[in-house]
Amino acid sequence: MKNDFTSNGLFWKIVITLTGLLVVVGFAYVFITVNLSEKYAQERNQRLNASIAEHIISEVKPYVEGELDTTATDEIMHHMMAINPSVEVYILDEAGNILNYVAPYKKVKLKKVKLGPVREFISTKGQEYVVGDDPRNPGKQKVFSAAPIIDRDKTIAYIYVVLASEEYESASEYVLNSYFLKLGGRAMLITLISSLIIGSLAIWLIMKNLNRIIATVKSFQNGEMSARIEVGEGGGINDLAIAFNEMADTIVGNIENLKSMENLRRELVGNVSHDLRTPLAVIHGYIETLMIKRTSLSEEDREKYLKIILESTEKLKKLVEELFELSKLEAKQVTPKKEPFFIQELINDLIQKFEILASEKNIKLKTSTLPNKALVNADVSLIERVLQNLIDNALKFTPHYGEISIDIDNTDQFVEIKVSDNGPGIPKEQIPFIFDRYHIGDKRISLDNNNTGLGLAIVKKILEIHNVTIKLSSKLNNGTTFSFQLPQYENA
Ligand SMILES: Nc1ncnc2c1ncn2[C@@H]1O[C@H](COP(=O)(O)OP(=O)(O)OP(=O)(O)O)[C@@H](O)[C@H]1O
Ligand SMILES: [Mg+2]
Repeated sequence: MKNDFTSNGLFWKIVITLTGLLVVVGFAYVFITVNLSEKYAQERNQRLNASIAEHIISEVKPYVEGELDTTATDEIMHHMMAINPSVEVYILDEAGNILNYVAPYKKVKLKKVKLGPVREFISTKGQEYVVGDDPRNPGKQKVFSAAPIIDRDKTIAYIYVVLASEEYESASEYVLNSYFLKLGGRAMLITLISSLIIGSLAIWLIMKNLNRIIATVKSFQNGEMSARIEVGEGGGINDLAIAFNEMADTIVGNIENLKSMENLRRELVGNVSHDLRTPLAVIHGYIETLMIKRTSLSEEDREKYLKIILESTEKLKKLVEELFELSKLEAKQVTPKKEPFFIQELINDLIQKFEILASEKNIKLKTSTLPNKALVNADVSLIERVLQNLIDNALKFTPHYGEISIDIDNTDQFVEIKVSDNGPGIPKEQIPFIFDRYHIGDKRISLDNNNTGLGLAIVKKILEIHNVTIKLSSKLNNGTTFSFQLPQYENA
């Protein structure tokens, strides 16, 4: 498959968006830098020249006996201007009115300066950034230096020095702006190009991996169920690859389950029709005979035929019930409802139930006499079914005057349950098949023909859904023991 993600436009769309974003951010950056640097320059100017007004006062006494001495002030102020042409010097009265000034070209438009910023400047000793009125540019604010003129402990006037004169400012503004513009522009250009290269590279890498994922998803969609994304080299989108693989596994697992359930259903239908055919044919045959020979049949024969029919219907009933039970278990439609119960109590109940059957064969059915208070955690009715089937087998296959015992043994986490008899045992070669459905073992011991061979298959399945395995030890002519372990209920 060719790498066509650059041709499908998405890659370029992302790159163009990224470029646009970077240009906007770049311009914002330059704008902010120039603005901040201008403010920085002004603040710096103010701090450096904060004491200029103080200095002028220390050089000259502008007031002589309460009167403004203009010749003295003019001289010193001209002097100042000569040294530092970037300043404009004003003398303000206590209301802020401009009394005297030295400024290039005398273009002073304001008659009065707001005193608020002047007082703030004086109280903070010029350590804070304060801007005040620019007498030559009404409405414009400038950095300044100021000092009070004190006569007999009273402020009678102020000296107000605007720090950057108009000419100086426009020149410095130009130098400043062009300098920072160049600096900002260059930084922006470098940032833009490098971000673009890195960004595009990252997008290219992600898209490349994404493309690989898309290719795999497409082949999965086209029926290639084994298609999986290689995890590990997926860069930042490994999680996506893992999630897809897990999803694909789940889908495949579900399909397999459906397939096996379908197979099971077919097998079941086949088995049922086969197993039902025999007893049905028997019933059918005997009923037909009864009808044909209605008058000629002896009472004894009629009785015999009806008994055969009854037995066959019983067998049918049992077969249908057990098949239904097993197929439900095999289709995983049964989930054990686990709850704590006393296993010894269940065994005692079962012994009572089977006692009559046992006494018919003079079989001794016993359990340990010691009371056992073990609590197990399992589905009580399913475990009852297991024990019923095991006891039923033991009773069926153990000859008269035999002995059957059901014992329990506690270990740390488990309770072991054993059902043993001293019957004929199971031949070695039969053991591997004993739990298969329809497996009816040793014909010599299958006394009645009411066997379906489903009993142990059901037992095995029930224990399987409890995650428990059943063990079997048997010696020919020496008895059989079935045993399994159930988890003890832990009182948390
Ligand atoms: N306690 C036992 N002693 C000797 N053989 C046994 C014993 N339990 C089971 N078997 C052998 O295992 C076979 C399978 O047992 P299973 O319970 O599955 O079927 P079944 O008892 O023959 O029929 P069903 O239980 O459906 O009536 C039996 O037919 C029998 O040959
Ligand atoms: Mg059985």
